[in-house]
Amino acid sequence: MSDADVIYKTDALIAEDIDQYLEVHQHKTMLRFITCGSVDDGKSTLIGRLLYDSKMIFEDQLAALESDSRKVGTQGQEIDFALLVDGLAAEREQGITIDVAYRFFATEKRKFIVADTPGHEQYTRNMVTGASTADLAVILIDARKGVLTQTRRHSYLAHLIGIRNIVLAVNKMDLVDYSQEIFDTIVGEYTDFANSIGISSFTAIPISGFKGDNITGLSDHTPWYGGPALMEHLETVEVDQVSDQEKPFRMAVQWVNRPNLDFRGFSGQIATGIVKVGDAVRVLPSGKTSTIARIVTMPGGAGPASGSGGDGDLDTAVAGQSVTLCFADEVDCSRGDVIAAADNPPQAADQFEATIVWMADEEMLPGRPYWLKLGTQTVTATIQQPKYQVNVNTMEHLAAKTLDLNAIGIANLATDRQIVFEPYERNRTLGGFILIDKITNATVAAGMLHFSLRRAQNVHWQATDVSREFHAGLKNQRPAVLWFTGLSGAGKSTIANIVEKKLARMNRHTFLLDGDNVRHGLNKDLGFTDADRVENIRRVGEVARLMTDAGLVVITAFISPFRAEREMVRQMMQPGEFIEVHIDTPLADAEARDVKGLYKKARSGELKNFTGIDSPYEPPEDPEIRIDTTTLTAEQAAEEIVRRLIP
Ligand code: ADX
Repeated sequence: MSDADVIYKTDALIAEDIDQYLEVHQHKTMLRFITCGSVDDGKSTLIGRLLYDSKMIFEDQLAALESDSRKVGTQGQEIDFALLVDGLAAEREQGITIDVAYRFFATEKRKFIVADTPGHEQYTRNMVTGASTADLAVILIDARKGVLTQTRRHSYLAHLIGIRNIVLAVNKMDLVDYSQEIFDTIVGEYTDFANSIGISSFTAIPISGFKGDNITGLSDHTPWYGGPALMEHLETVEVDQVSDQEKPFRMAVQWVNRPNLDFRGFSGQIATGIVKVGDAVRVLPSGKTSTIARIVTMPGGAGPASGSGGDGDLDTAVAGQSVTLCFADEVDCSRGDVIAAADNPPQAADQFEATIVWMADEEMLPGRPYWLKLGTQTVTATIQQPKYQVNVNTMEHLAAKTLDLNAIGIANLATDRQIVFEPYERNRTLGGFILIDKITNATVAAGMLHFSLRRAQNVHWQATDVSREFHAGLKNQRPAVLWFTGLSGAGKSTIANIVEKKLARMNRHTFLLDGDNVRHGLNKDLGFTDADRVENIRRVGEVARLMTDAGLVVITAFISPFRAEREMVRQMMQPGEFIEVHIDTPLADAEARDVKGLYKKARSGELKNFTGIDSPYEPPEDPEIRIDTTTLTAEQAAEEIVRRLIP
């Protein structure tokens, strides 16, 4: 049966009996792969060639790409190859900053999803996104150019992300007269590099995407080549799903399925392993155990509305399947929990070493709280200064204080509560995470957990007998933090000083932490970069918290320019304890006063990173107290603050 027969037969099938069509498809395995290469390596042509030669394009991306139905055929019409390639390239250019384009196609043997990512260096993040679910990477090389920096970069990333099947597609062989010598030289060079980064094997194929050599069938132009054609390799290469089933059972709970009082199930996609009715399972992090009473399937993984009316119950389910599990007992289990084999559960921890791929234009700020999403778990995480950064072009380890766009680094991180995890190497679902900016909600990084830090398990909270309530009781007061924020020269220190004097006269036990003073001692190692300011505020926040534990009314006077860190300190305190005081002075006024002469220096360029000049200030959106210094004297402002604190 020729390819053409397949498509017409399939079209007939779709028309006649959609169920049968889907049935045929369901039993094919799926290969997800990614193509990577430099800008001109011929990716569009290759993908176009695969789609074209497989002659079976489903999904509607082609219709969207070329809405003129004369050009792109559906229902078996011929597709113009050149137009298809142009369309793919044009679409990619338009969508270049958006994301990754996923394209679907199928042959008689297999279904494919190919993640098509732009080749420019700045799109490392797209490649990471595309690769995170891929089983295989096709690394394209232009035979005329050989192994380039991009080739090394993409191979390293693909390997880092855990792709174990690498195809080295030496493209444009037609332009080098199908020279075996050139092919062998490139393969030799790539082998040396691959070994150096731990890629133990790969499949090298000489191709021409443009001419179609060694794509669906072996080419007469390369009689010296003894391996498979690209499509044949893609159709037959063993996919990891098989080995995923051999791993211990784990499923992250996506939602609790409770359509009525008689049914309570936990839905999600099985990450690894096999689960059977009657299996003993453990819910993490609680550690509670139960037995699987039912495995219910929902058509298409649909929501809970379908209740028990899905495809019916299963005896067994395996990695990759979306199911709803019912327990024999009433055991607490909610979204974000992980259900695992009772005798072989994953660990939970709150400190880790990880690889981080930074994907945002703004640099990473060590110490800043970000959302960390791992599987279905979402927690707050802070990252320490990287141990080192990897130069992806040379594989060198470089010292780094932070990570910029596309940088890859190794760093420790801490989460605010325990998460259930496995090393990424063993389990992509429970080891891979993303970081999200809490203010903008943008995804800023992707990461891979290596291991938990043993100190996380060995350092426990030590309970002390003289409690914070006792400390506060002795002083006959309620602890509080008056957190002053505002521009340099706004009057924070002056007003804070008067406030402290007034409180002291009222027999309150206070302590004033002032920016300039703390920077002479505890924080004398810090400057004024964004990262140092984040660390400055983190430390001051921790000190303020200890002081509230000691029962004090703490007054702090720091510019504290970022919302994220002020919010972080607020979260450290008991509810109601943190009182944000915005000393609101227009920049022009602060600059006109210029008590310390710093604005003048900043304007002349002598002083860098000065708040309000070349370093940002994010005013509070909803402070407990706002002091307008254009209408109040320092004395009046202090009075107002004390009145609000002690009515
Ligand atoms: S913060 O941004 O990290 O909160 P902090 O309040 O500790 O700053 O320190 C600010 C004080 O440091 C200012 O009042 C000023 O006297 C001094 N200073 C020196 N350089 C700078 C700078 N580049 N930006 C802001 N303040 C600076």
